[in-house]
Amino acid sequence: MAGSVDENRGTTTAQLLKGQRALVTGANSGIGKATAIALGRAGADVVVNYVVGADEAEKVVAQIKDFGVRAYAHEADVSDEDQVAAMVAQMVREFGTIDIMVANAGLQRDAPLAEMTLAQWQKVIDVNLTGQFLCAREAAKEFVRRGVVPEVSRSAGKIICMSSVHQIIPWAGHVNYASSKGGVGMLMQTLAQELAPQRIRVNAVAPGAIRTPINRDAWSTPEAEADLLRLIPYRRVGDPDDIANAVVAMASDLLDYVVGATLFVDGGMTLFPGFATGG
Ligand code: BGC
Repeated sequence: MAGSVDENRGTTTAQLLKGQRALVTGANSGIGKATAIALGRAGADVVVNYVVGADEAEKVVAQIKDFGVRAYAHEADVSDEDQVAAMVAQMVREFGTIDIMVANAGLQRDAPLAEMTLAQWQKVIDVNLTGQFLCAREAAKEFVRRGVVPEVSRSAGKIICMSSVHQIIPWAGHVNYASSKGGVGMLMQTLAQELAPQRIRVNAVAPGAIRTPINRDAWSTPEAEADLLRLIPYRRVGDPDDIANAVVAMASDLLDYVVGATLFVDGGMTLFPGFATGG
């Protein structure tokens, strides 16, 4: 079984999630895809959720199966209550239960305020915020029903919300997106507080600028990338694996005492880089 990208440096995640069962939403591209593959590499069985792009989802499934774990693709719109409930119910039938929910699916519909339509506002809130609520709710029901199985994990289940640096950084021209991620921060903290007594860990991973299709315009030309790097003290655009590795760690018992935290994985983007020389 192959280890992680860090294998060359003497560490491996290969057994970290052995025997656990994970669902990743929006797992056929970008951060979700890398995360689903990394969870499989770490030994988890994985449901690869997608809403459009069945071919890509099947390719992700094939890559995960190469690690010797189970995987299948499931089409569902995370903003649809019935589809989310049916997706988790099917996972319980196929894999027996769920241990890790990665509420990752998200999108942008950018516009300046005066031009932003209600449909653009609503779509982003529906997918990025309501979608995470629905996925968390369905996973938590199963975690509570099953409880802790010590041979599998010290906790009864993990919910990992994919947030963003825009959980705390305002973003002109993206009020729908920034509001959704600000909401994800409070959704996560409130659920963490509510569910911790049942041994459910709820946390967030908050990416900065990661090289994926969602922000292609921000890095696809040298000029755009140079502009972007000014916002990143570490002076490198992130890769999907930077986030995937953080999710694996967050899902594992190595971080069992981490409850209600947001892990910013952003090369320092949240460090007010404008103040490095000013102020
Ligand atoms: C957004 C990207 C953006 C990054 C940093 C992410 O949450 O989806 O489009 O590049 O934040 O601003």
